[in-house]
Parts: sequence; C-alpha cells; structure tokens
Amino acid sequence: MLNLDIQKIRKDFPILNQQIYNKPLVYFDNGATTQKPQIVIDEESKIYSQENSNIHRGVHYLSEQLTQRYEDARKTVQKFINAPHDHEIILTSGTTESINTIAYSFGEKYVNEGDEIIISTLEHHANIVPWQMLCERKKAVLKVIPINDKGELLLDEYQKLISPKTKIVAVNQVSNALGTVNDVKKIIEIAHKNDIPVLIDGAQSVQHNVVDVQDLDCDFFVFSGHKLYGPNGIGVIYGKEKFLNEMPPYMTGGEMIKKVTFEKTTFNELPFKFEAGTPNYVAAIGLATAIDYIQELGLENIAAYEKELLDYATEKLESIEGLRIIGTAANKVCAISFILENIHHFDAGMVIDKMGIAVRTGHHCAEPLMDRFNIEGTLRASFAFYNTKEEIDKLYDAILTVKQMFG
Ligand code: ALA
Repeated sequence: MLNLDIQKIRKDFPILNQQIYNKPLVYFDNGATTQKPQIVIDEESKIYSQENSNIHRGVHYLSEQLTQRYEDARKTVQKFINAPHDHEIILTSGTTESINTIAYSFGEKYVNEGDEIIISTLEHHANIVPWQMLCERKKAVLKVIPINDKGELLLDEYQKLISPKTKIVAVNQVSNALGTVNDVKKIIEIAHKNDIPVLIDGAQSVQHNVVDVQDLDCDFFVFSGHKLYGPNGIGVIYGKEKFLNEMPPYMTGGEMIKKVTFEKTTFNELPFKFEAGTPNYVAAIGLATAIDYIQELGLENIAAYEKELLDYATEKLESIEGLRIIGTAANKVCAISFILENIHHFDAGMVIDKMGIAVRTGHHCAEPLMDRFNIEGTLRASFAFYNTKEEIDKLYDAILTVKQMFG
C-alpha cells in the first residue's frame, strides 16, 4: 500500500506547478538536481530577511543565534547518516569539493610514490579526476574495478586489484549514469580485511535509501544538498575522526586556525580545521530543513514508491522497439539510461523537451563509463518521489513521437 500522498506532496514543490511550451512540466532530471519544497525556500528567505549574520565570529545576538542554528544543522546531518560524532561532519560546497578535499588531504598524509588507489568504472568525473591528479602529484597508480555488461561491479576482479600498496578505495554507492546500486558494504568489508580505508560517494544514494555510516563502516562518506531536495552550494563529508585528525587541512584561511603568527600557524580542531572561510550557513540550515522534510515522508516510503516508478518505467520503455536500456543491474535506483537506435540522444532530448519533459542527455560526467559501453552518451530519465506513472506514460508517448519523427 502506498504510504505517500503524491498529489499532496507535489503541492509542496512550487516549480512543478507550471507549463513549459504550454505543457505541464514533467521533471525527470532529478539525478542532476532535485526540486526544492516550499519549506526549504521559505527557510532560506527567512534567514536573509530576519536572521542573517556571519557565524562563529560575533558575540552579538544575531551571530550567536545563527551559529547555534548552523551547528544544529550539522547535528541534523550527523543523525541523518548516523555518524557517531558531530565533529566528524564537515560542511562543504558539494560532493565535488568533498572528494577534492579528501583526495588532497588524505593523499598528502598517506600516499607516496608507487602506492595505489582503487576506483571503479562507474565513477562520476568528480570521483576520478581528483584521484588522477593525486596520482600524478605523488607518482601513484590508479586502478579501476571493471563492470559487466549490465553495469555491475565485478567484485572478484576488485579483490584481485587489492595489493599491499593500496592506500584507499573510492567508489559510489549508486551510479549517476546507470542507477546501479553497488554492494558497498561488501566492498568495504573486503578493503577493511586488508586495512584499507574506503570513501563512499553517496551523491546519488542518500536521497533514495536510508544510509547508516556506522552500519556500512565506511571511512568517508560524501554527498550534496542539492540532490537531496536542499539548497545548492552545500555538501557533506563524513570522515572517521582518526583520519580527519591526522589529515592536513585542504583550504586554509579564517576560522580553520587556532593561532596565526607570521612564523607559524596552528590549526583549529575538528570540524573547523576543514571549514576555512565563511561557510554557507544559509544552505546548511536549508539542508537540515530538507532532511527534516524527507524524514517526515520516510525514506522507506520514498524507496518503496520510487521502486514502483522504476519498475513501471523499465517495463514501458523496454517495450519500445529500438530502445536499449544501458545499465540493467539487478539492484538499481530510480534512473533509466537509454539510447534509441539510429537516433542521436541530443536530437531525441530536444524533441522530448518540446513536450515539456526534462531528461538529461550526454555522457553524464562519466565519459570512461560511456567508453566502456562504446557509446557517446545516453538519454537519462531520473525519477523522484514527486513523479507519477502518468508522467512516465508521457515520456513513453514522447519517445514514440521521436521515433516517428526520425524513423
Ligand atoms: N552529477 C549530476 C548528474 O548526474 C550532475 O546529472
């Protein structure tokens, strides 16, 4: 039984209630960014109109109040992913900054010439390039877990990649391009047997399923606010205290210091050591509001409904002749990547757009993955809990129109 009132939920998202090219907007680009409930929009507006002041810096009323709200937001994030301590939560600008911070800082501390780093074929560029740059800097070696034709990681091959020189494993929990859900618990277990820490990129997972970092026992977990119905410009690093304490800061400047003289600087304690400069406190509080909103709906309810949408869409799209789904893993979340025989994805995307339907086209910031499938890119429909089966029917009809036009 469906525990979510989708029509009521849709009213919480003002952007959904509009016409694009005189057609009701169908928003299927949730993998790129999610829409924001009114409560998040109102929260940000309220801060700017009534509460704004720089945090951690003033003894005056507004600064103290907002500092408290920022630190409460950190605690909301901590509880959301069940992190043991709030000082293990670093607030960043997004997943990209989170991974860059860890790749740089972990690399400075622990990676040396000849060492190895393992990522996977399914990674977004944000979880490839920072490690590549680190490898260039330190003369280390990047190794890549291969996948099968369904878009699933080959865990036997992963085991073979591990060596005494492996310093870290960095993989996503859900592939942004294919929707594959990786068995990260197993990946972490295997790495830990060899004393290797693991970073999980949760940019595409926290919005679809309950994440418990203690249960996973990951060493780092990162995600973005804007894909979680929260504001842009806010992201999260969860890191185990023992690593974060040993790792050097990434960005330096105000707030991350304990004492500065022209001769030497000592650094602040966690989490501030990794939060140089004025943080995006408005977005941090907005993110906490979004998390409260989602938790009220219940991530279990969201996951169950989104699975219904995924199954329905997969069956419908599979029935279209000449349509090939790229990424047919046994365990997937709400995204379908597909190509149409003899029709370029950009052409198809443009026609679909004219019907008021937003899908993403291209390589999805995962070019090596596209190369693995020997394709340039795909069309990707990624769903959220505010989407409906009727909207999927519209996508189905739109694809048939594309086929007629280009057939
Ligand atoms: N990483 C985002 C996506 O998959 C932008 O669309």
